[in-house]
Amino acid sequence: MLSPLAATLEQRIQERQARVAVVGLGYVGLPLLLHVIRAGFPSLGLDIDRQRLQRLQAGDSYVQDVPPDELYSLLSAGKLEVTDDYAQLTDRDIVLVCVPTPLGKSRDPDLRYIVQAATRLAECLHRGQLIILESTTYPGSTEEVVKPVLESGGLRAGDDFFLAFSPERIDPGNRKYTIENTPKIVGGLTPTCTHLACRFYEAFVSAVHPVPSIRTAEMAKLLENAFRALNIALVNELALLSHSIGVDIWEVIEAAATKPFGFMPFYPGPGVGGHCIPVDPHYLSWRVKNLSLPARLIDLAMEINSQMPAHVLHRTFDALNSVGKSVRGAQILIIGVAYKPNVGDTRESPALKVMQLLQERGGRLRYHDPLVPEVEVDGIRYTNQPLSPALIEGSDCVLITTHHDQIDYEMIGQHADLIVDTRNAMRSVRCRGRVFRL
Ligand SMILES: NC(=O)c1ccc[n+]([C@@H]2O[C@H](COP(=O)([O-])OP(=O)(O)OC[C@H]3O[C@@H](n4cnc5c(N)ncnc54)[C@H](O)[C@@H]3O)[C@@H](O)[C@H]2O)c1
Repeated sequence: MLSPLAATLEQRIQERQARVAVVGLGYVGLPLLLHVIRAGFPSLGLDIDRQRLQRLQAGDSYVQDVPPDELYSLLSAGKLEVTDDYAQLTDRDIVLVCVPTPLGKSRDPDLRYIVQAATRLAECLHRGQLIILESTTYPGSTEEVVKPVLESGGLRAGDDFFLAFSPERIDPGNRKYTIENTPKIVGGLTPTCTHLACRFYEAFVSAVHPVPSIRTAEMAKLLENAFRALNIALVNELALLSHSIGVDIWEVIEAAATKPFGFMPFYPGPGVGGHCIPVDPHYLSWRVKNLSLPARLIDLAMEINSQMPAHVLHRTFDALNSVGKSVRGAQILIIGVAYKPNVGDTRESPALKVMQLLQERGGRLRYHDPLVPEVEVDGIRYTNQPLSPALIEGSDCVLITTHHDQIDYEMIGQHADLIVDTRNAMRSVRCRGRVFRL
């Protein structure tokens, strides 16, 4: 039996009258806001980055999965409202928090953005409001960090307002699995909190999976990302071993993947990038370190993955050596600087780490990535070079660090003398020169 406060919110959700705000309009928050609007809820987006807000107000998208024409049509219909003013959240029934959760300098969790958002939210919190944290974080943070800040004005979570955690599972660039068809995990502070958050997500997500506690939901997200980090580390390690025993790891994985049960293919590469895999397992590892429990497997996986850029550097040494050249002074063309295929996101991209290592050793670098107009590596700014036979032929070595569908690998194969392929991108391409693999 729901309390009158909860029953009112449930009814508002059912009737699409609940006013929703999304706080933090980045890769996660912006697509989420559009889904909430499409589901029919009166919605507001809030971000502290004025430049981002201005771009949104002009219908200019900075998130690849959000097409500008969609922004434009929502703006013209008066359905997309954005602000940097927390006071506007006072009339909101539901607030979704999608702010960043990076690592600090010592690679510890940096919850600064979550605390800032919660502090501002506490100022406009009212009875009956539902607050849902979507940012990835370690188990316990919603209850130990966010809840006390929200309660600082005197309202009690679970009684006066509702609190839940529901990890965002967005996969940028993935056209098959979107917010709608990726089940949503929901853990509330109380059964009522869980119930209300589930009712809300059911309005626009095909399947909602309630769990018994906030911590379970927080931990589930970290399990998903630790699972990826570990499996990538395993194939990265096997790639190095396979290389030394003369076996092609890609052929090994392809063969193993014919098993219809009990195996899921993961692929090696120059390291891991993005906001999640290089970051989130550290959250878990840090949390248990505080309990004097080492997360040995996770720490080892992170170490193996973080060593891959150095391995790519050595393969580049090998390649250049084979033609009597050294990295110092060599013209090296980097293909793909985004952290994964078909996205323009370079956060924590291993390609940038490889570039940094090459730069430190005197390599002369250029890059081609149709999705990334420019990057900066240790104070040196590079701009995307259009791919051409002259660009390729003018390079001593072509180093493939990301695989995008848009890149013309045939052209690379026809014109490059020396290729280091860390992504198996040249597999079915005829190459006139020598190809070095991971
Ligand atoms: N990007 C992904 O693929 C992905 C996938 C799943 C989960 N996540 C998680 O989602 C969260 C957000 O990630 P993201 O990739 O969207 O980050 P992002 O950096 O793209 O966007 C975060 C936004 O929050 C804004 N912001 C920061 N502090 C704020 C505050 N106090 N109030 C209002 N806005 C504030 C920033 O200006 C920025 O626009 C992180 O915890 C991340 O781990 C990300």
